[in-house]
Amino acid sequence: MDKYTKDDRLYDAICDDYRLLNVISRFGMHLGFGEKTIEEVCGESGIDCDTFLAVLNLTKSGVVPHWQQPKLSLRTLGEYLQNSHAYFLDFLLPSIRRKLVEALGGFTNNDMAFLIIKFYDEFCLEVRTHMERENKEVFPYVDALMQGKKIRPITIEISLMHRTPIEKKLSELKNVMIKYYDGNANDNLLNSILYDIFLFEEDLVCHCMVETRLFLGEIKRLEEEHKDNYFSEELKREESQELLSEREKEVIRCVVKGMANKEVADRLFISINTVTTHRRNIARKLDIHSTSALTIYAIANKLLDIEEIRDERIVSL
Ligand SMILES: [Fe+2]
Ligand SMILES: [Fe+2]
Repeated sequence: MDKYTKDDRLYDAICDDYRLLNVISRFGMHLGFGEKTIEEVCGESGIDCDTFLAVLNLTKSGVVPHWQQPKLSLRTLGEYLQNSHAYFLDFLLPSIRRKLVEALGGFTNNDMAFLIIKFYDEFCLEVRTHMERENKEVFPYVDALMQGKKIRPITIEISLMHRTPIEKKLSELKNVMIKYYDGNANDNLLNSILYDIFLFEEDLVCHCMVETRLFLGEIKRLEEEHKDNYFSEELKREESQELLSEREKEVIRCVVKGMANKEVADRLFISINTVTTHRRNIARKLDIHSTSALTIYAIANKLLDIEEIRDERIVSL
């Protein structure tokens, strides 16, 4: 089978490539689908068939197909990726560790065993940190995007990638075990761990491709549709005001009322130097460098009322 289509039986696809077993469970599908086609199983499981096929074909070929991709379901892809994270973190990595401890005869057997397990733990921590960051940053962002919320775009490419250090550590782990471990070990168990690690490596590459090619592609498409929501005038205003401290807002009020630094210092019971520092920070934060522009900013952002400026200037005349 070159490429799976909706009319293929899911059973045939799995017999063609057994790695798809992992894929179907991450989509929340269970075994026991009889003679049903991919489209039928997707329909019954409530899974978007195009998205399912895209992941199936990517897993099989190891490359993102160059044919035109239909629009994929971001929700389905997001759930698939989160289930993959749970599989790696809660099932696969702890299961490899248990086997490793058993194969090497525990920590006390020899120094080498201790060092390998320590290396493995560091590797797991790196994978966990990467995936938990994606769980915390990327999926909530995509949810907000799907709900059409006004949201500041994140640099999602950076959040999703960073797989290289993980891959390097993984190949180092294999190297150490294959080339240098010569202590007492249960060889059958050690080989089984190495199989797991080789499969994990392939799985991880595929996982990253689903993230950076399929998932990211759909996120970009949605961001493009919602781009008017980003940095709307209202959002810009909220953000810039958040950046200003209460003291800085007070300084702005005084400055736009026409007070000199000495007057501002007296009014706010601070030194002239402090006023100067506040003014410098305000200019930098807002990128505003003249009193007239600051006045417009203050009125537009309701820091004070235009009447207050008029009153103040009349009094000072
Ligand atoms: Fe991930
Ligand atoms: Fe990732």
